[in-house]
Amino acid sequence: MTSNRVRPRIECSIVLVGLMGAGKSAIGRRLASRLGMPFVDADAEIERAAGCSISDIFELHGEAAFRDGERRVIARLLSRPAHVLATGGGAFMDPETRAAIRAKGMSVWLRADLDLLVSRVSRRSNRPLLAGGEPREILRRLIAERHPVYAEADVVVDSMDGPHEQTVDAVLDAIAAHLDVRRRETGPEPPSLGIEA
Ligand code: S3P
Repeated sequence: MTSNRVRPRIECSIVLVGLMGAGKSAIGRRLASRLGMPFVDADAEIERAAGCSISDIFELHGEAAFRDGERRVIARLLSRPAHVLATGGGAFMDPETRAAIRAKGMSVWLRADLDLLVSRVSRRSNRPLLAGGEPREILRRLIAERHPVYAEADVVVDSMDGPHEQTVDAVLDAIAAHLDVRRRETGPEPPSLGIEA
């Protein structure tokens, strides 16, 4: 079910950031369809470029090599026409990637609390950072380290523990509000708002 709310007209890529389990890919895919924009998953692109899974990249080459690849792939993706981009949880922690996102896109932090993250990541076991210990403790540490950096995003939205469309609605409202503020600051020219047909 989708609501008939105002649909922002977007002229730059929307980049979803946040921790593992925040719902970046699930929300991103639905957001892209509501906005009529292409959806791209950075982790899937990294796997495609490397020809193996993220777990294998970590195991065979180490985290530093993964981060190098992640930085390069995201820089390349940001040069594509406007799309919705879901990034891996560590991507926005890289200062170069953060600067590239700031220059070429609009960042949206999908914020989720520890309990929600733990319940979501427990459904899958493909995350190398969670493989070496107790997921709740690892995520608690990552929240302390990363939330202050994610807070630099242009837009912050709480990821809800309900139907995904509810969170997508909240993202659309937050993006529209952000564009409205930006428009008032920069004058009436685009980015501007359009009304959903
Ligand atoms: C990571 C998150 C993962 C993936 C990799 C590292 C992180 O993506 O990029 O395992 O550093 O938080 P998701 O956030 O999509 O799970």
